Amino acid sequence: MKVTVVGAGAVGASCAEYIAIKNFASEVVILDIKENFAEGKAMDLMQTASLNGFDTKITGSTNDYTKTAGSDIAVITSGIPRKPGMTREELIGINAGIVKEVSSNLIKHSPEVTIIVVSNPMDTMTYLVHKTTGLPKNKIIGMGGALDSARFKYRLSEALEAPASDVDGMVIGGHSDTGMVPLTRLATRNSVPVSEFISEERLNQVAEDTKVGGATLTKMLGTSAWYAPGAAVSGLVQAIACDQKKIFPCSTLLSGEYGLEDLCIGVPVVLGKDGIEKIVEIELNDAEKTKLKESAEGVKKTNGLLEL
Ligand code: LAC
Repeated sequence: MKVTVVGAGAVGASCAEYIAIKNFASEVVILDIKENFAEGKAMDLMQTASLNGFDTKITGSTNDYTKTAGSDIAVITSGIPRKPGMTREELIGINAGIVKEVSSNLIKHSPEVTIIVVSNPMDTMTYLVHKTTGLPKNKIIGMGGALDSARFKYRLSEALEAPASDVDGMVIGGHSDTGMVPLTRLATRNSVPVSEFISEERLNQVAEDTKVGGATLTKMLGTSAWYAPGAAVSGLVQAIACDQKKIFPCSTLLSGEYGLEDLCIGVPVVLGKDGIEKIVEIELNDAEKTKLKESAEGVKKTNGLLEL
């Protein structure tokens, strides 16, 4: 199992680190355009192998895509992160060109690759990778919902005063401050609806805090977050690499599912060796349907800014 991570910034490095620690991949190649940067991150990570007990071989390269040849999975984290006060959508001008170039280079050397897109605005960048590579739709996955759901569970555990492992919940919709749709109705604490434990008002607060999860951290850190994004990506990579058939909300190209088409947006999918093996259509109530539709309109508006 060979995994390429493009972009050795904080998210890319954290993603490579979690993949290595989970010890399921034989090889991770990190790529960056900055001279020697990926090589340095790879060496630093390799020096944790004996400490953390992993056998994954991590190498770095300055933008040499021949080193990525034969990758099973590639993660695109390239581009600029947002600064405090910015929306993810504002990054499109710079990141679209980068993601286009990265994805064409990847498929030149790994025509069978499955691509996980992390760069923002993520749903639009996932759509762009479809348009650029022509890969089958099961092989292009946008990482947003897995992260947003982890943040939702964090906020739920805080409100419930319960450990996160006792809590389940999912966020669908676009990976944006206004587009996320935390499914509060379906969230549970050990299979009991969370509404049994907290008020509607508190639950609405949880949903609002979840939606600005990334923006809150960007304000605190001066740049966007990396631990939870890296861990979320590694979860998707592992589900594919180990054929786990797990459900994650991921951005995927829709062709009529949820009444939406010709866009990538977060919905529950089954991830296994073939990438997105199934789009899971769950029954939404009217309010949730309206929110998802509005979220889709936002994503389409951003897609309209792409020069395709
Ligand atoms: C975040 C970035 C990865 O939400 O979009 O932290």
